[in-house]
Amino acid sequence: MEMDKLVSLCKRRGFLFQSSEIYGGLNGFWDYGPLGVELKRNVKESWWRDMISGHNDRSTIPGAPSAYEMSGLDSTIIMHPQIWKCSGHYDLFHDFMVDCRETKRRFRHDQVCGRWVKRGDQRVFVAAEEGEQQEEVIQKQALKFFQLRNKDAEQLQWDGPVVSLTTLDSFEAVLGPDAKTVGTLTPPREFNLMFKTFVGALSGEEGAAYLRPETAQGIFVNFKNVVDSTRMRIPFGIAQIGKSFRNEITPRNFTFRSREFEQMEIEFFCHPTQSPAWYQYWRDRRYRWYTDLGLSSDRLRLRDHHTEELSHYSTGTADIEYAFPFLPAGSFGELEGIAHRGDFDLRSHMEGKLDPHTRPLEVEKDAHGQPRWRGSGKDLSYRDDLTNERFVPHVIEPSAGADRATLAFLCEAYCEDEAPDDSGQLQTRVVLKLHPRLAPVKAAIFPLVKKDGMPELADEIYGELKRSFNVFYDEKGAVGRRYRRQDEAGTPYCITVDGQSLKDRTVTIRDRDTLEQVRVKIEDCTSLLRDRVT
Ligand code: GAP
Repeated sequence: MEMDKLVSLCKRRGFLFQSSEIYGGLNGFWDYGPLGVELKRNVKESWWRDMISGHNDRSTIPGAPSAYEMSGLDSTIIMHPQIWKCSGHYDLFHDFMVDCRETKRRFRHDQVCGRWVKRGDQRVFVAAEEGEQQEEVIQKQALKFFQLRNKDAEQLQWDGPVVSLTTLDSFEAVLGPDAKTVGTLTPPREFNLMFKTFVGALSGEEGAAYLRPETAQGIFVNFKNVVDSTRMRIPFGIAQIGKSFRNEITPRNFTFRSREFEQMEIEFFCHPTQSPAWYQYWRDRRYRWYTDLGLSSDRLRLRDHHTEELSHYSTGTADIEYAFPFLPAGSFGELEGIAHRGDFDLRSHMEGKLDPHTRPLEVEKDAHGQPRWRGSGKDLSYRDDLTNERFVPHVIEPSAGADRATLAFLCEAYCEDEAPDDSGQLQTRVVLKLHPRLAPVKAAIFPLVKKDGMPELADEIYGELKRSFNVFYDEKGAVGRRYRRQDEAGTPYCITVDGQSLKDRTVTIRDRDTLEQVRVKIEDCTSLLRDRVT
């Protein structure tokens, strides 16, 4: 599937719009249109229902109860700035950026790659942004630089494979992406990804605060409140869906890397001895959630991080990744990370301690000479009331992106096939084969023609179904064109009222994917839809 086609469908049919479009847009921000908002709500509601409110899963973890509890939380976007110091985000949540003095473009250091090439006695590292056609782009850029024509390409002497810019010690011999001269890239500079704001009337550092870069910390700092107010016993999970903000250097690939996005995160608290088994459990459970909702296992993979990729506190992390069509063939993009976080977060919020391998905690003084960046000093340990054991729970964190999941479901669903038009001729149609639970509109109701009492009966069915589902009524134009519009919106069923409906109160239901039409009684429509779309 070509990504351009999906992007254009999303705009045309009202799934996604560039934010602030009439003012020229704002890079890294996206608005969900009428169909998009329903789709994303269904993604989030399926997650909430399957993981939290409707969860009745069982585990077979030795020593752990098979049933475990899950509850929700909705914490604020702006929180006490000390939270980000103790979580490590204030000191460590950064990317490195590189600027080009010639083109004035900015790149993420780790997203530029290139290849050494020689001609005569000049050796240059020709750089390009990572992406689908990077090899071709590098070759074109090298030909241009050495003023060669395509047919002279063999005069270039390539030296080694395409490698990341991060492997170079100096940029002196680097030809930046689209640059004409060598050596115009600045050395990498550190850039914190948190958006800064000011609380109240104080505009100085005293009022400084940050938009949360993840929802997870709101859960950790409320751990004690949840335990005390619910009396849940470990093992249990606390879940949250909400906006997060990251000032990404290079937002790209549609909504994949945005500056404002939504996360769906679970912090699962368990006994330290059982945490490796719970980690395995969540890794597998989360993978299954995506396949149950229609992502094909050919394009989905669970990738365990290598030891050197693991965070200092983690004994295991796996990513669920999807082969997004905008990535080079064979590449995958992260949908969700499942991390074994040990007791790092709860302990940091108690003691304000960062790992000695990372930068040491700087102790700044407040106006009264007191250290500002301490932990909360609160006891966030847990006491098991049956065994009387007190311990700091270990945490397994399945952390998913609602926008990335929505994008993956859209990419998977986009399909072009053939269907007969009104005259019976096969025509190419664009169809979104979304899982019925995710489909924005569950059914469309059509009178075959706009006369003979058909609109009235169709409207009656619409009114009845609307009580339970998001359904759509359409009487405009030829029925074949109405089907096509619903195919593009991903509507799984079209219910048509025809001449026979007026005689025996039956309708046809057309299946979006198989194109089969079956005749059913009007009175059965609600239960039929309920069985298929919930
Ligand atoms: N609490 C852990 C955490 O935030 P993460 O891997 O940085 O981990 C989790 O983020 C998920 O959030 C990612 O797997 C991705 O789905 C989503 N996400 C992260 N950054 C994003 C961005 N800039 N745009 C869209 N989604 C993003």
